[in-house]
Amino acid sequence: MVDLPPLYDDLTFLSPLSDERAASLVGFIADAHPDTVLDIGCDWGELLLRSLAAVPEARGLGVDLESQHLEDARRRAVERGLADWASFDARDARTFTGSFDAVVCIGASQIWGPQVDEEQPLDYTAALVALRQLLPAGGRLVYGEAVWSVPPTAAAMSALGGRPDEYLAVDSVVALARQHGFSVANVEVATQGEWDAFEAGFRAGFEHWIHAHPADHEDQQEVHRQLQDQRDRYMNGYRGVLGMAYLSLIAD
Ligand SMILES: C[S@@+](CC[C@H](N)C(=O)[O-])C[C@H]1O[C@@H](n2cnc3c(N)ncnc32)[C@H](O)[C@@H]1O
Repeated sequence: MVDLPPLYDDLTFLSPLSDERAASLVGFIADAHPDTVLDIGCDWGELLLRSLAAVPEARGLGVDLESQHLEDARRRAVERGLADWASFDARDARTFTGSFDAVVCIGASQIWGPQVDEEQPLDYTAALVALRQLLPAGGRLVYGEAVWSVPPTAAAMSALGGRPDEYLAVDSVVALARQHGFSVANVEVATQGEWDAFEAGFRAGFEHWIHAHPADHEDQQEVHRQLQDQRDRYMNGYRGVLGMAYLSLIAD
């Protein structure tokens, strides 16, 4: 396996999310002055750290399985003077319990349902039910998840899990949130610009590797193939079809 640079070298979040939209999501959390904030599937913890910076009295916990990414989250916390307020745990969130004033879960619904590579429908309901259990009434949830922006095309499906029911449209996800114990304060969807920036950042690791290694390196062909494959799947597949919704929710 080729050792590519870590994704956090080239991406701010592991999601199509601009600084402006991140500030709006952080504002939704900060407006409630939470004492405790949980980011579940936090990766390198960027949104949690921005939330803690906006609510100085809050304590934050980030949970993920990626220990290298969590190490980077801890480094960021130290650099921003947040080390006493933020902790990051490498653990399986499927068995996680507790109560938090605010919860963030972006792109991580698969924690409670089939894994992405199982090519099953994403289980938004299992995620919303589990997330509701982590919040008291009035608690705030930023729930970010993939949706179909338009009815899925054959090209998009073949670049993803190969099925039309892999994702739902945003209105259906909003309806599920209402059915499972939330009031909907706001709904946003990532722009094409956010997606293009995200995909470019995602591909950048391949490009850095290619330029950092000799042209006759034994892995050059494989890394070129992976780069081309990622570009094709996006540009000729799910670009403009796969969307990302950010729901600002308040627990009933
Ligand atoms: C798309 S990434 C999340 C991106 C991140 N929330 C952000 O906005 O930058 C999904 C994350 O869920 C984590 N994850 C998947 N299954 C998990 C589990 N059972 N327990 C904890 N984390 C899990 C993955 O390691 C990955 O970091």
